[in-house]
Amino acid sequence: MKPASDPTLDYKRLVAQGYDQCAAAYELARREKTHPEIKWLKKQLPNQAQVLDLGCGCGLPVTRELAKRFVVTGVDISAEQIRRARRHVRHATFLHSDIMALDFPAASFDAVVALYAIFHLPRGEHDRLFHNLRRWLKPGGYLVATLAQDPEEPYTEPDFFGVEMYWSHYGMLEYNAMLAEAGFTILSTSLIGHGYGLEAPVESHPLVIAQARE
Ligand SMILES: C[S@@+](CC[C@H](N)C(=O)[O-])C[C@H]1O[C@@H](n2cnc3c(N)ncnc32)[C@H](O)[C@@H]1O
Repeated sequence: MKPASDPTLDYKRLVAQGYDQCAAAYELARREKTHPEIKWLKKQLPNQAQVLDLGCGCGLPVTRELAKRFVVTGVDISAEQIRRARRHVRHATFLHSDIMALDFPAASFDAVVALYAIFHLPRGEHDRLFHNLRRWLKPGGYLVATLAQDPEEPYTEPDFFGVEMYWSHYGMLEYNAMLAEAGFTILSTSLIGHGYGLEAPVESHPLVIAQARE
C-alpha cells in the first residue's frame, strides 16, 4: 500500500487506464457472481424503472441482470469496460465518463446502483457525489452502494489484477452522516464480499441501501 499523494499524478487516469488493462482478468473473475440486493431491487421497482449503474464495469453480472427488467444507464470511466459492457448488454445505454463530469436532470432515476466503484473516486468528491445522486433520484428512489467500513487516506496497491490501482474512502461513521445530510434515509447496511473469484473473500465491504427522502 502506497500513499496516493503525488500531486503530479492523475489518479483518475490511473484508475481508468488500470481498468482498461485489467478488464479481461476482472471480467473472468467477476462474471459468475450475482447479488441478492439486485433481487431485492427488482421486487421494489416496476418494470421499465430507470436505473443508473455507476461504475458499471463490463456489465457482468449486474448491469445485464438489471437490464432484463429496467431501463439502464451504465457509466464507467474506463473505455475498455464500456466497450465490453456494450457487447455484453444490448439493451442499455452506456456512457464513457467520469461520473463527476456528468449531470442528469433532477429526478431522472428510480435507483442508482454503485457496486465496488465509489471507493475509486477521491474521497473529497464523495459528498458532492451523494448530493448529485440524491438530485438525480426521484423522491423515494433507492441508492444501492458498496462503501467502506473504515476511513483510509488515498492509496495505491501495485497489483490489482496485475495493475496499479487507487482507492480512497471514508468509513461508515462518516458515510452515515454524509448520506443523511445529502437527503437519504439508510434502510439497511450489510457486509458483502469483494465480488470476484471463487475463493472465500479476503475482504468485505458494507453494502448500503438508502432511500431518497421526499
Ligand atoms: C471494481 S469495478 C466494479 C464494476 C461493477 N460495478 C461490478 O460490480 O462488477 C469498479 C468500476 O468503477 C469504475 N470507475 C472508477 N472510478 C470511476 C469514476 N470516477 N466514474 C465512473 N466509473 C468509475 C472503474 O472503471 C471500474 O470499471
